[in-house]
Amino acid sequence: MDKLEKAMQKARQERAMNVTLPHGVTAMGSVTTPHATPRRASNKDLITITDDQLARSRIMAHRTRSPEADGFRLLRTQVLQVMAREKYKTLAITSPNYGDGKTTIGLNLALSIALDLKQTVLMADLDLRKPNLHEFLGLTPAVGLSDYLLRDTPLPDCLLRLSFERLSLLPAGTPLDESSEALGLPKMAALAHEMKTRYPDRLVIYDMPPVLAQDDSLAFVPHVDAVLLVIREGKTKAEDVTRCLELLASANIIGVVLNEAIT
Ligand SMILES: Nc1ncnc2c1ncn2[C@@H]1O[C@H](COP(=O)(O)OP(=O)(O)OP(=O)(O)O)[C@@H](O)[C@H]1O
Ligand SMILES: [Mg+2]
Repeated sequence: MDKLEKAMQKARQERAMNVTLPHGVTAMGSVTTPHATPRRASNKDLITITDDQLARSRIMAHRTRSPEADGFRLLRTQVLQVMAREKYKTLAITSPNYGDGKTTIGLNLALSIALDLKQTVLMADLDLRKPNLHEFLGLTPAVGLSDYLLRDTPLPDCLLRLSFERLSLLPAGTPLDESSEALGLPKMAALAHEMKTRYPDRLVIYDMPPVLAQDDSLAFVPHVDAVLLVIREGKTKAEDVTRCLELLASANIIGVVLNEAIT
């Protein structure tokens, strides 16, 4: 058994819940449709996201009879069981490095939960330095979280309503260099608290930056109920997993998603 396998096994054994996508996400394949022109999005519109856009971003959770969507439904059930049992309302998704698949996994999970009927979901982009959640949906929002935090833009003006009824989006807004300072503001702590308490049937998923690349995730995890760690098979190094688990030692990691698992 190589080092990476050992670290992953350790990660699985040490945590309360093991989440791996049973079919991997390998079967997603690459999608070669050309990039769509981003649409300006405002909170006044109900935004319809086309199937083409979802496919370009490898969002599969809404599909019926698809192994990838089945994988996300299983992940959804596992996550929802823990969240309900522990009365958790907020979940941060992070990973050791850039490009491990946090946003792909997070958005698929958010959509899968929103399609569950019992739950509403707000997905927030907390990568204030290099935000890109909106790009997955082909959108260019005028404002977002950083504008709420630093420019007093009202929060309702920052939220985007999607045509998936129970899914809404809080984009990151104007990119910031001092992203961890912004996430450390009392206004952000108050918002994180409100996110847990405002609506009883709403879960909040935070799309975080990578743990080893910047300190934003570490600074923010004390404000979340739970953390889901994404590891990318064939890319994430064993020592990165170990370091990540050390840094997140005080965080409540409820599972590890092995992205692009080879089955
Ligand atoms: N299972 C998968 N199979 C194939 N491609 C994938 C898979 N998961 C993610 N990708 C692709 O890998 C790239 C990085 O994914 P994604 O943006 O979700 O990672 P990230 O961890 O959010 O990155 P960042 O740290 O930059 O925010 C994207 O092009 C995405 O489409
Ligand atoms: Mg991302």
